[in-house]
Amino acid sequence: MGHYIKYSFQNVDNAEDIMVLQDKQILLIISGGIAAFKSLDLIRRLRERGASVRCVLTAGGSQFVTPLTVSALSEQKVYQDIFSLTDEAEMGHIRLSRESDLVVVAPASADILAKMANGLATDLATTALLATDKPVAVVPAMNVRMWEHAATQANIATLKSRGVACIGPVEGDMACGEYGFGRMSDVEDIVAAIAATLGQPNGPLSGRRAIVTSGPTHEAIDPVRYIANRSSGKQGHAIAAALAQSGAETILISGPTALPDPTGVTMVKVESARDMLAACEQSLPAEIAICVAAVSDWRVASAADQKMKKNGGGPPQLELTENPDILRTLAKAGNKRPRLVIGFAAETENVVENARAKCKSKNTDWILANDVSPATGTFGGDANTIQLVDGNVIVEAWPTMTKSEVAERLVARIGSHFSEDA
Ligand code: C5P
Repeated sequence: MGHYIKYSFQNVDNAEDIMVLQDKQILLIISGGIAAFKSLDLIRRLRERGASVRCVLTAGGSQFVTPLTVSALSEQKVYQDIFSLTDEAEMGHIRLSRESDLVVVAPASADILAKMANGLATDLATTALLATDKPVAVVPAMNVRMWEHAATQANIATLKSRGVACIGPVEGDMACGEYGFGRMSDVEDIVAAIAATLGQPNGPLSGRRAIVTSGPTHEAIDPVRYIANRSSGKQGHAIAAALAQSGAETILISGPTALPDPTGVTMVKVESARDMLAACEQSLPAEIAICVAAVSDWRVASAADQKMKKNGGGPPQLELTENPDILRTLAKAGNKRPRLVIGFAAETENVVENARAKCKSKNTDWILANDVSPATGTFGGDANTIQLVDGNVIVEAWPTMTKSEVAERLVARIGSHFSEDA
């Protein structure tokens, strides 16, 4: 089968992923679900990065993808049957479960999660999962009601408490026509999370501590109302995931978002700009600080203690006061100033000049500037076109990339900055 597939590492931009995944042995369990087709791409992406992927297909999984396709893509035998004498003679199920660096269940159906949480061993997949002594990651994919069901949530909590990494799910349209959480994460994000799970001890940024701010802030008007913005947190979360993947001890300080917690990061969830600043200051010292959050510039000077009522006297006058600038504060933090302080600048004109001015005025090392004028489609989209500006002369124009790719490129840039500096 070897002649079917030619993998070239030149197709893969992310050097860290390759380093982490090169020569790694992954046992991929494909359980039942419409998302199983994405696991075919996952096999390709992992193999492109030098990993070898051995697959177990459950009875449910084989309703969605064929053993032949899986074995063609993995270039290995596919294991399906616990009672197969041939398989047991070739590779016992215990060996199968132990001869890997990581076991990944993708897609992980509600059923397999329930079996894992309860220690059932009713088929090859669940037996291997019970017998393994290797790290396990699950990538749930199911209908939103099934995901939100108290039983599934309890099973996930049990698995997490036993150290199982949970990748996703994400929010979106479902095959069944509903909308919500339950979609399997994008393959690119699964690969990044797998690399994070595998790569922490020896990555290029291991031993370094990083703080990332992400998402919007919510500024209370009264106990039920707040000022916010439309930031999704996608870029900040992707950067935190990429930092963790390259071995940095990563603290992600995020305002409210609908995103799952990235694998391998310490999450600090906050609401207001002042809470975000306090969390950042408590996380110092750190060598790297990356402020991606869309911090509300203003808050209500004194939020009401009780819900404000319409009392016939017309709308209330809200007096606003300025929020602290977290980026500026971190960049000034005296002897606790991180060695590398990085900010973002969304501009609609004179992108480079404005970014350079911001870099100087906020005392940051680098600013990642992007043009968010409506014609670019950047705002709210998944793609970003970045110019990296440092305080002096360097301006690097990056091609248009996904937010995960921007994260990977930034983290690679940070890695080479530290190795040049060493
Ligand atoms: O000044 P401007 O809001 O354009 O600067 C954007 C950069 O500053 C981003 O990196 C953002 O995270 C950071 N910022 C901050 N605290 C604020 C305002 C902006 O950290 N209050």
